[in-house]
Amino acid sequence: MNYKIKFYTIKTNKKIINYIPKKNFILDILEQNKINIEFQCRKGYCGSCRIILISGKIYYPNNVVILASKLSRKEIFPCCCIGINNIILKI
Ligand code: FES
Repeated sequence: MNYKIKFYTIKTNKKIINYIPKKNFILDILEQNKINIEFQCRKGYCGSCRIILISGKIYYPNNVVILASKLSRKEIFPCCCIGINNIILKI
């Protein structure tokens, strides 16, 4: 059986990255591509990884939804969210 893997892109002010949607947290993808941002807990508690989502869709697969309500409309916690299409980030 053949499976097609569809890649999307994460575009930052530093780099354009191809990624497989629904697979890794955005912070992990950034790190794998040597884009380092601040972080501490990696669980959505501290808020230190907070960055701006300029466009694209993400979702929080775990119980981070409550904490995400403390974010402004465009901010995301990349440590615990997953991209589901083409994304543009301000870092
Ligand atoms: S590293 Fe703590 S909220 Fe992301």
